[in-house]
Amino acid sequence: MSFRLTYATMYNPPEAMHERFDAAMARVEATLGGSHPLFVNGADCYTAEYADRRAPFDSDLRLGEFALASLVDADEAMAAAQAAFPAWRATPVAERARMVRRVGDLMEQRVYEIAAALTLEVGKNRMEALGETQETVDFFHHYANDFENHAGYTNPLPDDPIEGIASHNASVMRPYGVWVVIAPFNFPLALAGGPAAAALVTGNTVVLKGASDTPWAGRLLADCIRDAGLPPGVFNYLSGSGRDIGEALVQHPHTAGITFTGSVPVGRQLMQHMVSGAYPRPCIAEMGGKNPCIVTARADLERAAAGIVRSAYGMSGQKCSALSRVYVHESIADALIERLQAQIAAIRIGDPRRREHWLGPVVNAAAYANYQRYADDLRAAGARVISGGAQLGTASDGAPALARGYYVEPLLAEASLTHPLWRQEMFLPILMLHRCGDRDEAMRLANDTSMGLTAGFFGAADEVAWFHDHIEAGVTYANRQQGATTGAWPGYQPFGGWKGSGSTGKAIASFYYLAQYLREQSRTVV
Ligand code: ALA
Repeated sequence: MSFRLTYATMYNPPEAMHERFDAAMARVEATLGGSHPLFVNGADCYTAEYADRRAPFDSDLRLGEFALASLVDADEAMAAAQAAFPAWRATPVAERARMVRRVGDLMEQRVYEIAAALTLEVGKNRMEALGETQETVDFFHHYANDFENHAGYTNPLPDDPIEGIASHNASVMRPYGVWVVIAPFNFPLALAGGPAAAALVTGNTVVLKGASDTPWAGRLLADCIRDAGLPPGVFNYLSGSGRDIGEALVQHPHTAGITFTGSVPVGRQLMQHMVSGAYPRPCIAEMGGKNPCIVTARADLERAAAGIVRSAYGMSGQKCSALSRVYVHESIADALIERLQAQIAAIRIGDPRRREHWLGPVVNAAAYANYQRYADDLRAAGARVISGGAQLGTASDGAPALARGYYVEPLLAEASLTHPLWRQEMFLPILMLHRCGDRDEAMRLANDTSMGLTAGFFGAADEVAWFHDHIEAGVTYANRQQGATTGAWPGYQPFGGWKGSGSTGKAIASFYYLAQYLREQSRTVV
C-alpha cells in the first residue's frame, strides 16, 4: 500500500507508514559505511580525498565516507555542465519536463529509503524526513507541470505595422547556461532538488554543491537524476567544503546564475560576487529568518501553544522558517506560557530513528556549543528562562545513545527587548517571548528586524486582515495549529522572504519562480 504524504498523514501517520519507515531504516543501516563519490559528467567521480561522517545523534554510528571535491573536480563539473548546455537548451520543453518529472517519480519510489538516510545524516525525526523527501518529489513534479503549463514561457505578441510593414513579434524566455545550486544542511534534499528541478526544466544545466554536513542527501538526489536518464553533464554533484569549492564555483567564468540557500552574511557575499565580474549575473538567495508570532488577547490559546511549539522546536529550530520571537498580549501571557510549558514538557527527545521521539539532536558540535553559549548569555543578562537551557549529555527517556548525540532542550525565555538575541538568527530550539500592551506594539516589534521570511498570528477572525496588511514577511500563517511559521508545501504555500531574507521577492514554487531562471528575448521579424 502506498501513502502520499500530506499534512494529514504527517501529523497523524497511519501505522503502515511507520512499518515501512522502520523496514527502510533497517535496509539502509545494513549498507552503512560505504564510500560515496561525486557525480560529474554522468559518472561517479572518485576524488582523492574523503571525509568520514557520523550520525549527529550517535558519534559511534559511522555513516560512511564522502568525497571532498577538489578545485580540479569543481572545474571538471563546470566544464561538463557548460558542454552539455547547448543540447539541453535545445531539447524540447515536453522532453525536458518528462525527464524532470521522472526524477520525481523515481524519488517517490525511494521515499522511505531516502527519508531514512536524512534521519541518519541530519537527525530529523521520521515525519520531518519523510516530509522533506515528499516535498522534493513535489518540487520536481510541480516545476515540470508549471513549465509545461506556461508553454515554456513563450508569448506571441501582436504584429507591429511600423512604416506600413508588418513586423511579427514574440517574446521567448531562454535559459542562462550553467546554474550553480548551493544547498543548506537543514533541507539538504528539498533545497537542493527544488532549485535544481527549476534550473533543469527551464533548460539550464546544473552544478550542485551540497552542505559540508550533509553530503549524502545530495548524492541520493544525484542517483535519482542519473537513473531518470538526464544526459551526461546536465546535472553534476559536488560534496566538500563550502569555503573552497563554493567560492570556486561562484567565481567560475562559466557560472551564469546561482541559487543559494543559507545564512545572510554568505548570501550577501555571493550577491556581491555576482554583480561584480565581467557583468552582473542573477543570484537567487534564500537567506535567514528571525520569525515572529503575534498572539492577541482574543487568541485560542491551545491552538496558539501547539502552533508555536511545532514551529519553534521542530527539527530543533534548525529551519529558516522557525519561530524565534513571540509577542503576546499581557492579559493572556501567563495562560499562554502555562500551555507552552505543558507542551514543551511533553516533547520526547532522543534517537530520531525511534517513532516516539519528536526531537532529535542539533546538527553538529558547533551548533551544540552555540546552544550552551546562548543559554548562558540569556541567563547572564537576567532573562527568565522558563523551560530548557541544558545540553543533554546524559539523560532521560531510556535512550542510551543520548550521551553520544548533540541533544539539547527546547528553551523558552522572557528576555529584555534590548538583548541582542532578539535580532540574531540562532538556528536552534530557542524561543524568546515578550508581553505587549496592545497589538500595535506587537506588530511594531514583530517588524523591527532586518529579516522578513515567515510570520504567525493567533487571534480573532476579524483581526486577520489587520495582520496581513501590516506584517512585513513573505510567508504568513494565521491561526494554524500545525505550524505558526513553518510547513510551507510546494503548490500550496509559495515560500520566499522579504527584506534581508530573500534577494528577489519571488517565492519558491510560486507562479513567478521559474521565470527567474530565464532571460527574455524579444523577437521581431519582418
Ligand atoms: N518548507 C519548509 C518550511 O516551511 C522550509 O518550514
